[in-house]
Amino acid sequence: MDTLPPGSRAPALAQGVSYARDPLGFLGKRQQRYGDIFSVNFPFFGRVVYVARPDLVKEVFTGPPAVFHAGEANATVLEPALGPNSVLTLDDEPHMRQRKLLLPPFHGERVERYGELIVEMTRREMESWPVGEPFALRPHTQRITLAVIMRAVFGVHDEARLDRFERLIDDFAKRVGVITSFPMLRRNLGPGSPWPRFQRSRAALDEFIYEEIRLRRAAPGYAERDDVLSLLLSARDEEGEAMSDRELRDELVTVLGAGHETTATGLAWAVERLVRNQEVLAKLRDSLAKGEADYLNATVKETLRARPVIVDVARKLKAPATVGGYELPAGQFVLPAIAALHYREDLFPEPEQFRPERFLDGKADNYAWIPFGGGVRRCIGAAFAEYEMRLILREFVERAALRPLDPAPERVRVRNITLAPAKGTVVIAADLA
Ligand code: HEM
Repeated sequence: MDTLPPGSRAPALAQGVSYARDPLGFLGKRQQRYGDIFSVNFPFFGRVVYVARPDLVKEVFTGPPAVFHAGEANATVLEPALGPNSVLTLDDEPHMRQRKLLLPPFHGERVERYGELIVEMTRREMESWPVGEPFALRPHTQRITLAVIMRAVFGVHDEARLDRFERLIDDFAKRVGVITSFPMLRRNLGPGSPWPRFQRSRAALDEFIYEEIRLRRAAPGYAERDDVLSLLLSARDEEGEAMSDRELRDELVTVLGAGHETTATGLAWAVERLVRNQEVLAKLRDSLAKGEADYLNATVKETLRARPVIVDVARKLKAPATVGGYELPAGQFVLPAIAALHYREDLFPEPEQFRPERFLDGKADNYAWIPFGGGVRRCIGAAFAEYEMRLILREFVERAALRPLDPAPERVRVRNITLAPAKGTVVIAADLA
């Protein structure tokens, strides 16, 4: 007997195609049609269950982590890239160990030590903007966030090594998308096929990272440095154990993968929304001129509501569990539907409107506004990402007069596992201060 919540009976492929056509609206439309808990049949994953109401999201985020396995769910997609020791692909004790080691460097105020670096990288990148001509902003935001992560997380500053590192990351990024999106391609179909190419680029990137770990360990005084790699080298777990090189590699690639494209895309969306809402842009500029930070903070939060970079987060049940009154079997995927939640009229009135005022009191409900997921798996880089977005956006808004080439909103397109503006946020910068 089918005990799963209601959902479309259309074949998996058709539902996959509907999602790809309208990734932002897909989940909201199903919630309106089938209710706050519904199922979707996807290729490869089978029938998965979505929840799209705060109390149901809370059930999932606060359910026992030993039952609601996020690592196992994430590993289906991410393990080839991140490895088996990544905080994203682990569960239970091993997950908590890595999480505790990784959390301190990304904690609230501690990320502020990277402020100067972020501003410097932004100013440097803005010099390459073609003033007066239309250009896609997203590659520029991605170069900024990558420049920041290579220096702030890996602590690489030598120009020649930075060049080599960037080329390796670029090549890895090119190969990884097809491998994460199409698990059936994870086998050798000949030397020129995606899997061996991916394996080669991963091996080259790993070689660089292990080399960097060796160099850092050997460098005098690394304990005084403030990059994340140096902090992780000195970190000890509750038993006094340091991280192994394999663990370090997996966490560094995790932070690289989870940290720079997401933030860059969030920034591209912030500008895409702002240039189409000039009154909001003017308000933001005025508030910055007065030295206020609240409206900037609210603009970042509203961007992540209206254009969540990640559309859903997954848990795979290790044992049977009840969610929303449904008894779900072990092995079932359950996903808080971020995009559907963010467009609920009862939580965010007139959800289509881009209105930072919603967040001016500084508060965002843990189970209604969930661009960073939640519970014991909430994004470790959330404070870092929001801080970085605020600083970069402030530079853009204070130093450039921006307008869109086309006043119509950019379509939402799936890019690797993120939702990105289809044209990469095409803007015209009239002048630069
Ligand atoms: C706008 C930017 C970002 C967005 C939208 C985002 C979103 C997410 C989401 C949705 C999750 C899954 C949470 C869950 O399963 O409940 C996650 C996990 C994670 N993110 Fe982010 N992220 C961003 C930036 C970053 C940055 C900058 C870093 C690191 C510097 C980072 C590191 C991580 C890590 C390590 C995890 C795994 C946490 C765990 O499983 O315990 N993310 N992120």
